[in-house]
Amino acid sequence: MNDFTFILLGATGDLSRRKLLPALYHFIARKQIEHFVIVGAALADVESAQLLAEVKEKLGTVDEEVWKRLEDRFFYESLNFTNEDDFKSLNKRVDALEKQFGLSGNRMAYLAAAAEFFCPITSHLASSHLIKRKKMNETPWQRIVYEKPFGHDLKSAREINECIEKLFEEHQIYRVDHFLTKELVSNIALVRFTNCVFEPLWNNRYIDQVQIVINEKIALEGRGAYYDKYGALSDVMQNHMLELLALIGMESPTKLSGDYVRDRRVQVLEKVEVVDGILGQYEGYKKDASVSSDSDTETFAALMMRIDNPRWAGVPFYLKTGKCLDKKETKIHIKFKAVDCLLTRDCPVPSNWLSFEVSPEATFALSLNAKKPGRSEQVIPVSMEFCHSCLFGPQTPESYEVVIEEVIRGEKSISVRFDEIEQCWRIIDTVRKKSFPLYEYQCDSKGPQELKQFEQKHGMRWRS
Ligand code: BG6
Repeated sequence: MNDFTFILLGATGDLSRRKLLPALYHFIARKQIEHFVIVGAALADVESAQLLAEVKEKLGTVDEEVWKRLEDRFFYESLNFTNEDDFKSLNKRVDALEKQFGLSGNRMAYLAAAAEFFCPITSHLASSHLIKRKKMNETPWQRIVYEKPFGHDLKSAREINECIEKLFEEHQIYRVDHFLTKELVSNIALVRFTNCVFEPLWNNRYIDQVQIVINEKIALEGRGAYYDKYGALSDVMQNHMLELLALIGMESPTKLSGDYVRDRRVQVLEKVEVVDGILGQYEGYKKDASVSSDSDTETFAALMMRIDNPRWAGVPFYLKTGKCLDKKETKIHIKFKAVDCLLTRDCPVPSNWLSFEVSPEATFALSLNAKKPGRSEQVIPVSMEFCHSCLFGPQTPESYEVVIEEVIRGEKSISVRFDEIEQCWRIIDTVRKKSFPLYEYQCDSKGPQELKQFEQKHGMRWRS
């Protein structure tokens, strides 16, 4: 852990500034790392100090000693992703820095870049020897991290994968999804499989429906050029939401790590069928200068899916995501079936819900029915809740910090295997082929008005 070179390709982009560089700072501070070098590279001609100053400002309070250590070990190089010579020069620079700081050559190249550059960058990483092909457990380790979305459909994803797997071993390749490292997301499988009260009920006999929601208040935040090409379906649904669905739906893995979990996730994704959906675009989206003026890119999607296997036959999975909505929340709600309520006068009694809140808070809660004080037969829903920060304090590492740590540790369950990515694109390609209607909605609302009809049609209600 305490000896690595982090090569950040796309260092001036939004992801690097907002998430990766702050995550590196926190990681170095938390683990008290001293032996490292960070080499940032991108096309822009900027000074290291200037780039870091912006990051520091956003971080707010920092430990000056740790920050100084990071500043002393951060180097920026201007580089064109499609120019092989630039990669050769970068490799010389990295070699020299590793020698200067006595590092052993453990390298992580993080591609915070658009998927169209994945193949050219990977080819140049290989030909410049910036990252070398390595056998399993060979030292020093050298790894490549690909941000999502991996491609823009099944075909492009396969092309990229074909290109990179010719050049590197699978154990060196990390196709990451930062959602998989969020505290409450990594808690899902543990809660399911280590509590005898849940797993026996985790099937179509007892579960009525599942809702997975990623609502965002933010809109484009300067990312319009990227977003307009992808939309909500490829930006969030194809990766974060389908991975959440896979974690909820999977069978028990032998171990909670690496391929044991990935095998289970892909088995669920293979069985996903798209039933229905509606799409939306918030009013004013097309006025953003970085977006095409006649864009029909969706900024909202609500879908109904099914998992065609014995555990889930007949259980609807509802997935909803959008930008510029009335509040930020990432939640998973599992609704249990209504009980036979002959014992009470209020019939039917409210259903039990198990809800995971991934953000803004990290909690999970089980709603149960209890007796209303005084009258013996009336019930009211009460909630049993676990709140992560209440119990463990607010010091939980941010998801990108965990991504960095896990890649350094060589833990693969946070990385999405290519067969999972293929299945996720298969599902999204199907959604696109179905051409669900696209409606306009007001910012700060709950999404298109037509969502009501979707609810009525399926006899459901989004839980908030
Ligand atoms: C990213 C998407 O992967 O996830 C963004 O590209 C989205 O559009 C973000 O805002 C949400 O993640 P988080 O961790 O901020 O909830």
